[in-house]
Amino acid sequence: MTGTFWIVQFVSRIVMKKWTWTKTSFTGLTRVALAMLLSAVVALPANAGPREQAKRIHDRLAGVPPSEAVLNQMVNAINGSEPSCASYGTTGAACAAYIAMDNQSFYNVTLKNFAAPWTNRDQSVFVPFNDYIATVVGMVRDDVPFNTLLSADLTYVGRPGVVGAAPAANNNTHYEQLEANNVNLRDDLVSSTQSSVMGIPANATAGVMTSRAASEAFFVAGTNRAMFRFTLLNHMCNDLEQMKDTTLAPDRIRQDVSRSPGGDSRLFLNNCIGCHTGMDPLAGAFAYYNYNEDTGALEYTPGTVQSKYFNNDLNFPQGFRTTDDNWENYWRRGQNSYLGFDPGLPGQGNGAKSMGQELGNSVAFAACQVKKTFRAVCMRDPESAADHSAVTTITTTFRSSGYRMKQVFADTAVHCMGQ
Ligand code: HEC
Repeated sequence: MTGTFWIVQFVSRIVMKKWTWTKTSFTGLTRVALAMLLSAVVALPANAGPREQAKRIHDRLAGVPPSEAVLNQMVNAINGSEPSCASYGTTGAACAAYIAMDNQSFYNVTLKNFAAPWTNRDQSVFVPFNDYIATVVGMVRDDVPFNTLLSADLTYVGRPGVVGAAPAANNNTHYEQLEANNVNLRDDLVSSTQSSVMGIPANATAGVMTSRAASEAFFVAGTNRAMFRFTLLNHMCNDLEQMKDTTLAPDRIRQDVSRSPGGDSRLFLNNCIGCHTGMDPLAGAFAYYNYNEDTGALEYTPGTVQSKYFNNDLNFPQGFRTTDDNWENYWRRGQNSYLGFDPGLPGQGNGAKSMGQELGNSVAFAACQVKKTFRAVCMRDPESAADHSAVTTITTTFRSSGYRMKQVFADTAVHCMGQ
């Protein structure tokens, strides 16, 4: 039974991963097939005891079965008699989860796979290790307040000397070596300032948005709207399609967006406006950034708007012409205000850092981190009323106690450990 359990867990993980990373949610068919597979072979007994619960928590968080010693510690934690719980500042099943997160695989496998899809346009998990993934892994490990993910002057690198290539602004070799050498990310990642590695001013850093990997994926060519779109998708759990609001002022829609596409102004008014009224004023924050394909580095030009902001400016010359890196959040008004932006912030500013704070401090950002964690740990989307209520409670705790992602992983694993 135990052998079969692990095989099915393994297969279901692979199936889930594939679907998780290629679709934003599982299709009904996959879900049904998977549910049948799981319930046929691995359904927990109706009353899973602490041992089964501990095993499941460990498998979900670390992706590997626990050693006998760790399993015993976790069972003791669930039973309220594990002395080491004091060092985690928590008790019960949550403490068991913290014990499981001490496993190296939580960092080298679970968290790496958690973040990898955010770093490329295909949302693929099969990408080389990079500075964006490392920063997420390090922030989770060190309980760095995760609402600074899109604004901090922070990056994580291998401990000096652990690999040959130093972290560099213009190549990914350092991270590829960390991966090739299977460096232990729990023990051998150290924090550094992104500004020093990337060679940009501290006030030009905006967390993972200005990481080298994100720059290469989303600041390359185009109009820099891609950086905004993918940040929204990955960290607010919404694509622009869901944000369409045709009632907002179109005054900051750029010149490249035709006001009568195909000679039909109704198309602009009913469709194009929906996304561009909100997106264009926010993406103004990136006016000084470009990924330079020749140098392989992020380029930051304070005071000089990148030429990509003037692509096709004759499509509608009366449209908004970008003059600096000012941004404004029109979504604080209207239907998208449900995203819950922080009333204590001004809702406008200059540059990517303050725009990253605007997004990072919204309720939607926090809820999105919890939903993604739910999918990674419970291996399904929240479905029942109990699931949705758990997501809400975990999000509230996350926001009110220092935005610690490990707590989100622990609380979610406990929710899905079986009754
Ligand atoms: C669902 C949201 C949405 C709608 C609706 C929409 N756009 Fe866009 N538009 C985007 C996004 C996102 C980008 C950035 C794409 C990228 O670079 O990856 C973009 C980019 C553009 C660009 C720049 C293209 C380039 O070369 O990078 C133009 C021009 C544009 N849109 C015009 C229009 C017009 C005209 C319409 C209406 C017919 C329209 N858009 C409707 C979301 C939308």
